[in-house]
Amino acid sequence: MKRDFSIALLAAMLCAGAASAQDKAGLVEEAKTLIQQFGGTLKAELQAAMKEKGPVHAIEVCNTRAPEIAARISADSGWSVGRSSHRLRNPANAPDAYTAAAIEEFLKRQDAGEKPDTLVKAEIVEEDGHKVFRMVKAIPTGGVCLNCHGGDQVKPEVEAALARLYPQDRARGFRSGEMRGVFTLSRRLD
Ligand code: HEC
Repeated sequence: MKRDFSIALLAAMLCAGAASAQDKAGLVEEAKTLIQQFGGTLKAELQAAMKEKGPVHAIEVCNTRAPEIAARISADSGWSVGRSSHRLRNPANAPDAYTAAAIEEFLKRQDAGEKPDTLVKAEIVEEDGHKVFRMVKAIPTGGVCLNCHGGDQVKPEVEAALARLYPQDRARGFRSGEMRGVFTLSRRLD
């Protein structure tokens, strides 16, 4: 009897462990889909704007569309979806404590030779008494990004537009392949 009980208890514990691992895997997949939606929509709109009217116009697209797209995807999905960075352009994208710690960790791992496109952190944590799934994923700097986040590659008219919209801009001087920032997602589980 005692033995049966222990076996049942052990089975229950193992199942609970397996179920939460499965839940987490499902949440990671969902988060990846949202990142693709957010990143994909942004990139498509950015590239279309650059091609149509050049980088100065594209800055305005980023300025107004990036927060709108993030807000729409968050409202539709029930998740909180955003972007952040260690060198911010828009102070409104400042990281919360969890995201800031993940960014610090990614920077150390980048310094140690890991590639930004492999840097990701996903876990279930406790926040304000609630269970919350958090995921942070690094965003590498690509060639097109240098038009507005690079050093000398940034044209004077782009520089002027950035100075007007973002007087506190710190998101300049990035090199191709370097971590530019992160996608940060969260969802309350209870
Ligand atoms: C046409 C200019 C332009 C290009 C090209 C561009 N960005 Fe940006 N980026 C901006 C602007 C403007 C903002 C501020 C958006 C806002 O106000 O939320 C920004 C903000 C960001 C942020 C949010 C964090 C912060 O600093 O505020 C990240 C991350 C980012 N860009 C990554 C990239 C990446 C990666 C690429 C290339 C795939 C890229 N950007 C290409 C103009 C650009």
